[in-house]
Order: sequence, then structure tokens, then C-alpha cells
Amino acid sequence: MTAAAPEPKANMGKPLSRYDAVSKVTGRATYASDMPLANPAYAFLVTSAIAKGRVDGFDLDDARAVRGVIDIVTHENAPKLKESKLFSNGGYAGTTIQPLKSPDIAHDGQIIAVVIAESYEAAREAANRVKVRYTIAAPSATFDSPGTTTAAAKGQNAQFKEDPKVGDFAGAFEAAEIQLTASYDTPTQHHNPMELFTTSCAWIGDDLVIYEPSQYVYGLKNGVAEQLGIDAGKVRVVNPYVGGGFGSRGSMTPRTAIIAGIARRLNRPVKLVATRDQGFTITTYRAETRHEIKLGASRDGRLVALRHEGAELSSRADAYCVGGTKTTTRLYACPNVDSLVSIVRADRNTPGFMRSPPEVPYLFALESAMDELAVKLNMDPVELRRVNDTTNEPIGGKPYTSRSLMACFDEAAKAFGWAQRSPQPKSMAEGDWLIGYGCAATCYPTQMGPAAARVRLQRDGRTRVEIAGHEIGTGAYTVIAQTAAERLGVPLEKVAVFMGDSDLPPAPVAGGSNSTASTCSAVMMVCDQIRQRLFKAVMPDSLTDKAKETVGIGQAPTTQAAKSDRPLDLEKAFDTLGVGVVEEYGEWKPEGAPLDSFRAMHSGHVRLVGGHQMKDKIAYAFGAEFVEVRVNRFTHEIRCPRLVGAFAAGRIMNPRTARSQLMGGLIWGMSSALLEATEIDERNARYVNDNLADYLVPVNADVAGVEVILLSEQDDHINPAGAKGLGELANVGTNAAICNALYHATGQRIRKLPVRLENIEV
Ligand code: MOS
Repeated sequence: MTAAAPEPKANMGKPLSRYDAVSKVTGRATYASDMPLANPAYAFLVTSAIAKGRVDGFDLDDARAVRGVIDIVTHENAPKLKESKLFSNGGYAGTTIQPLKSPDIAHDGQIIAVVIAESYEAAREAANRVKVRYTIAAPSATFDSPGTTTAAAKGQNAQFKEDPKVGDFAGAFEAAEIQLTASYDTPTQHHNPMELFTTSCAWIGDDLVIYEPSQYVYGLKNGVAEQLGIDAGKVRVVNPYVGGGFGSRGSMTPRTAIIAGIARRLNRPVKLVATRDQGFTITTYRAETRHEIKLGASRDGRLVALRHEGAELSSRADAYCVGGTKTTTRLYACPNVDSLVSIVRADRNTPGFMRSPPEVPYLFALESAMDELAVKLNMDPVELRRVNDTTNEPIGGKPYTSRSLMACFDEAAKAFGWAQRSPQPKSMAEGDWLIGYGCAATCYPTQMGPAAARVRLQRDGRTRVEIAGHEIGTGAYTVIAQTAAERLGVPLEKVAVFMGDSDLPPAPVAGGSNSTASTCSAVMMVCDQIRQRLFKAVMPDSLTDKAKETVGIGQAPTTQAAKSDRPLDLEKAFDTLGVGVVEEYGEWKPEGAPLDSFRAMHSGHVRLVGGHQMKDKIAYAFGAEFVEVRVNRFTHEIRCPRLVGAFAAGRIMNPRTARSQLMGGLIWGMSSALLEATEIDERNARYVNDNLADYLVPVNADVAGVEVILLSEQDDHINPAGAKGLGELANVGTNAAICNALYHATGQRIRKLPVRLENIEV
């Protein structure tokens, strides 16, 4: 086995190569904007140069003079669209700010016109010639800007129902032997997936086909239908491959219905490829956050009091928040816990999901504070986590379904060489470089949603799996193909998987790291329906009725001995049935899913369950991350030569794709600590570095060594696949591990991200 394909341990699948590897590296994989359209018109967006105010008028003569211009759509002549609610309030939209509805401007970079032309170049040229007259009002850009408003998150957002608390925090903190209070800041960040934000719409009579990179084809289909006021059955969303999501394509953005409306009016397909800088304002982003952590502990390191107060930026229109206190208040044993999340409203586009939305900023605060507490206690930070490890979360007392946090710490510490660390800050160096070692915990909720699948098996073993899941680069095709092949006992090469099309059976949003658990559980169930039909055909009459009911239904995937998992003579079963094809459709929902789950699934509403929301248990994946940083004494250049993470996430369906996910996560985590920040011109509430040259992301030279260790873990209390989500696990906590290592290297505690050389003061 190579490093890329780690040897499977117990409860892991085979490290098979990616199902879509060849089509991707040979350029055969078709992305949304690759789809051929008959005689398309091209759209180019004109976006607002001011953040607050109104459009007084346009001068379009120059633009219309460009050869090939077909139409220019503004609020004065735009197709009328219905509104959609924010997804967290039961709608489909990532923002309720609806451009082209009125002359009002709610944020910088809002769509104010769409130029349609015979070519992309003509549309772009004309868009650059559009002149806009504005009435400008003074915008509030961010925290501390005049004119922002602040209110508790609870009650503003249907998804944020409670500020977790237990016991008497104030009294316990007051009485604690050791007290720590510290504040932390995280910046605005943008997803910047490689594939741009594109939308192509083609009408065939009353039927609309949308090609758009989407993490949720059922959500987009139903959301656009709602906005256009047409039956959702008339809308199909297609995107077999997505060039990165990171959360930016999980909810509907306003551009889709606008382009669909224009295509209907023109009676011609319309294709939009928004520019990189437009992607910063026409979709969502990770909002800046602020935190205050208070920890009270006894001298032996046991937490007696914990308080986490968080503030998150949002738009005037929408109370979006991530509310990561649901996780930080439950990670460690502590009898007295308090928390509060607030939303600060400014004149900005509405933020949204981005790469482990709650945990990345909130665990930065908690895991930095834990390191600060370890320093105060003169205690090894790993031992501080051990002392506060728990089998039950402290808020409701519910047991974790499985929790391998300390096993992860021990494995990663060993692989990293943590024992060689001399604990004193500034005590390790090599030449001009100060060396720092740091660590932090990571965790991510195990989430699942209802999903449906259709599976067709032929007598020769050829298998077709259909499910409207999403391949956003994670390995979804691969693990689904693998699941069907294993379950049906057919060779992998005979399995074809179809995804990314809303005409296929519904699956949840590819978000919250739920996809593998949800889609594989559904596919397993439907494969079992097929097995049952075939087994029944060849079953001896002597079997009891009870046996007949369960025959063919697999046990846990690793259980070879189970009677019902016995191999099936496919050809004999088909011949006994006298058919050539067996096809089954089924709808699976996780334990604890609400009653309306299946109806919601078909209408594109997310019903994820799991994490802390389970009735009598709590399910999380865990990990531990260790990093080495080097800081140049003279130039303050920061390097991160080693990232080592150990992770436990239930059944690992495929160690190759899992490792790849986790490796990417560690790199994103480092990126989120040292590189990524969207700079804001506070006078104009405008993003400054809205391009890939100035918005820093890691390149190969920034990533010297990444080691991913997969721990064996079996959890029979989560879902039939036994899988916990790991897509978003590894980029949590890395930011804290890096700041903890920087403290060790330099003696300087840094509480504001990102950390750049100008922030080092040694
Ligand atoms: Mo992920 S930010 O849940 O798409």
C-alpha cells in the first residue's frame, strides 16, 4: 500500500481508486458550464460599486452600442420573481436580498444589471460600459462600525434555538482556583472553489433545465420553481461533477432564478459564468467572529466553569449564524457552563456555510484557551485534555455514541514526537528559526438525512445505482459504488453510479459532512431489498416465515458469518424468477428523523439529524492535530513544515478517499490560520482582495509534510453504514494548534486570525 492508499485497519473498506479518476484526469468529466447548449446567449453581471443606497438611473447607450448585445436587464425591466425564505428559516435561499427587484442596494457587489449578448466577450464589454447613477448612503462594514446593530441570536434564527448552559457558571468561576479570560477573533473568509459560479438555463417548452454547480440539486430545483412560480416537477438541475463547494453551493443564490427568467423571456438558453471577484458578493462567505472564553479550573486541571460568548457578523436582511457553542459547551467535562451567541448586522451580503462553519471559529477560541490554561497550570496540554475527557456531554448528560478523542491524541502525539518537545516557550530553535510545537482537539457532529436510491441489478451482475447525491471532490461516487458492490457481491467494475441530477431519487444537501452516512445507508437498504427478492426466489420452502422476512438483509458490513449475508448464486436466482433485471427503489431515514422527513426530502428541505440533537445520545467524530511551526527570528516569516492528525470517524468506507479528505482538511486548517482573510475597506464596506492573487490560499510550497492517521473505530449507534462524517473534521482545531505552536516558538500568544509575519513581535 502507498501513503495515498493506507492499509485498512479493522472496520475500514478497501482503499480503492476513485471511480471518477480517469474521467477527471482526461478531461472527460463534464462540469455545469461544459454542458452543450443549442444557440446560447451569454450573460454578464453588472454589480454595485456601492454598499448602501439606491440606483437613481442607468445610462445604457454605450453598452447597447456594442455589437451583439441582445438585452440589458435592470430592476426596471427584470422578470418578476417570488421571494424565498432563508434556508435556516425553512426556505431555500442563502440570502433574502433579492437583486433587480427594486433600485435599493443592500451590499457592495449586489447584482444591479445583467447584460445579454451573442458572445461572452460582447456581454462583458457592454457590462463594462454600463454607467450607473447612485445615491450613496454611509455603510456599516463590520464589528465596531457605526450603525451596526447587535442582538442575541436566540429567537432570530429558527436553527439557533438555545444558548447551552448548565449549573452555576458565575459562582463556580468566581470560586475557581485558576481563572482564565481571553478574547479571540476570526476573519471574513471566502470559499473560492476552483469552479466559478456558473448558471446555464435552457427551457424546452414549459420545462426548465438548469446546469449549475450545486451541493443540493433538490434544494435548487424546488427553490427556483418557487421563485418562478412554477411546478417543481418542471425543473431539473444537472451537475454530475462539482469543482469544489466548501459550503458555497449548498443554498440557492439569487442568480439562478434571474437567469432562468431571462432565458424564458428570450426563448433561448442563457449561460452565465460569473467572474472570480463577483463570486465574493453574489454568494455567501464565512463571516468574521469574536469570542470571549472564560475557564475556571482546579489546580489539577479539572474544568469547573466554562463560558463561551460568541458574536457573528451578518447582513441587515438575514440573521444567519453558525452558533458553534452547541459544540464547545459539550466537548469537555464541566459541571458549570454558560454561553451566549449574538448577531451583529451590517451592510454586507449574507454570510453562509463555509468548511465546518460552526467548529472552525468556535474551536479556535476554545482550543486556544485550553492551551492558555495548560500554560497557567504548568501542565502538558495533552494531559489537560485527558483530565477533562468525558463519556457524556455535560449539558444534557447524554452519552457519546463513541469517543476516541484521547486515543487520537495518543496516536498523533506518538507519530509527531510530542515527547521531544521542551515545554518552555522559545526553548527550541535551529539556526535562525524558532521552533514551536502545538496541538489541539478537533470534533465534528455526525449528521445524517433522509435519502432515497434506486438500484438495478442484471443477471450478469451489471449494476446501476441512482441517487441525487453530489460529487464535490470528496469521493462520493467511489464510496457509493463500493457500497453497492460489497452489498450485492458484484465486482466494482460492474457498478455504474449516477448522481448530481434532480431527476434521480432525492438525497440531502452535500453539507454538514452527512453525504456518506446518508447516501450509503440508503444504497445499502435498497441493495438489501434486491438481495431479499433474489434470496426468496431460491429459498427452500422449509425456511420459517421469520427467516423469509430477514433473508438477504445484511448485518453490519463486516459481519461475514451472518446467515443472511451468505453469497447468492445470482444467475440461479434470476433464472428461478424468470427475469433479466431486478430493480428496487427505497427511501431511508435515520433514527430520530422527523415525521415529515420524506415529504421534505422530495421538496428540497433539509432534515439533518444527529450531533447533539439526538434524543438520548450524542454523536461526534473526533481527532487530534499536532503541528510544528518555524518562525524566522529576523524576518518573522512563518513556516509550517509538519501537520500530523489522527482521526476516528466510525467506519472508514475507503481509506484512500478518507485520507485525502482529511489531508485537505489539515491544509485548509493551516490556511485558515496563516493565509486566508478577506480584507474589507471599512469606509466603503467593500472586499478588497477579491481575486486569487490577493486572497491567499496554500500552494504546494506552503505544505511540506502532512500525515493522516486513521484510527479504527466501530460505532453501531449512528446509522446502518456505521460512518461518521469526516469531510469537515480535519480543518477544525488546526488554527488553534498553529497559534499554540506559535506561542511555544515565540512566547507570544496570538488571538486574532490570520497570523502573518507582521503580527509576530518577538
Ligand atoms: Mo459544508 S460548509 O457543510 O458544505
